[in-house]
Amino acid sequence: MKIAVLSTNGRLYSTRRLLEAGQERGHEMLLLNHRRCYMNITSHRPSIHYKGKTVKGLDAIIPRIGASVSFYGTAVVRQFEMMGVYSLNESIAISRSRDKLRALQLLARKGIGLPVTGFANSPDDTEDLLNFVGGAPVVIKLLEGTQGVGVVLGETKKAAESVIEAFRGLSANFMVQEFIKEAGNSDIRCFVVGNKVVASMKRTGKEGDFRSNLHRGGTAASVRITPEERSTAVRSAKIMGLNVAGVDLLRSNHGPVVMEVNSSPGLEGIEAATGKDVAGSVIQFLEKNAEHGKTKTRGKG
Ligand SMILES: Nc1ncnc2c1ncn2[C@@H]1O[C@H](COP(=O)(O)OP(=O)(O)OP(=O)(O)O)[C@@H](O)[C@H]1O
Ligand SMILES: [Mg+2]
Repeated sequence: MKIAVLSTNGRLYSTRRLLEAGQERGHEMLLLNHRRCYMNITSHRPSIHYKGKTVKGLDAIIPRIGASVSFYGTAVVRQFEMMGVYSLNESIAISRSRDKLRALQLLARKGIGLPVTGFANSPDDTEDLLNFVGGAPVVIKLLEGTQGVGVVLGETKKAAESVIEAFRGLSANFMVQEFIKEAGNSDIRCFVVGNKVVASMKRTGKEGDFRSNLHRGGTAASVRITPEERSTAVRSAKIMGLNVAGVDLLRSNHGPVVMEVNSSPGLEGIEAATGKDVAGSVIQFLEKNAEHGKTKTRGKG
């Protein structure tokens, strides 16, 4: 097959591994920087151009779209879909998962366990918002945050109110969430490919930090997950419409609760922690499923 990885940086571990795993399995692999892809919007013969040439003959694409280029990146993925090229994750599913509130609403609707989460626009409702997530301690999260930045623990009601006031002052969107204390500075990343969790790791925050992000000095280790965690992860990916996803869970007293479903999960941490060939699993999925015209966005805006 001829497969393109859409990534703005060919030196990233995940990008390199996907290219490598595809080559090892005998595919023609190429790297396309989606920021450099341009297109003609036409119903007749949609096409993608790259550095002066038309992109031709692709069987599949693997979108690795960073949060900062979601808007343009998903437009490029959509154009490939219009051309009949199979996308590992559909543009609509990527957009869905990028909007954290929308994602939580969709998961809640299907009965997936979530930390109790509140969101309000008006400062007049702060008090009630704090009450219905169970009162302090609460976790306050910027909607635009990643890698643990903008995730704050409000240990007391006063502290929580001050943080909320500060975020409002900056006109930032945020949510307030029940603090899952029993998770003990750890979360579980499940790497889903199709109907399976192909690898899972437990990330633990460094001493004194409730956030387990590896970028913030957390550590990762391979972990055995329960059947309930496994099915929660697979169902969550399915609800978002993602074939490949990183589903982040917290182990709460009332079972697994989902924090987030990531459409471009990193490979470095999970391959290092588990020793598994996760990139190879992704390529195998394409071998089984990539068919011309199978990804259809029609009617799904
Ligand atoms: N409700 C919660 N209860 C306990 N711990 C939490 C809660 N929410 C987040 N955490 C901890 O904080 C970390 C960071 O939170 P989260 O993953 O929501 O934000 P982020 O990593 O900044 O965003 P993204 O995952 O989109 O990059 C989590 O990995 C987890 O360890
Ligand atoms: Mg996170």
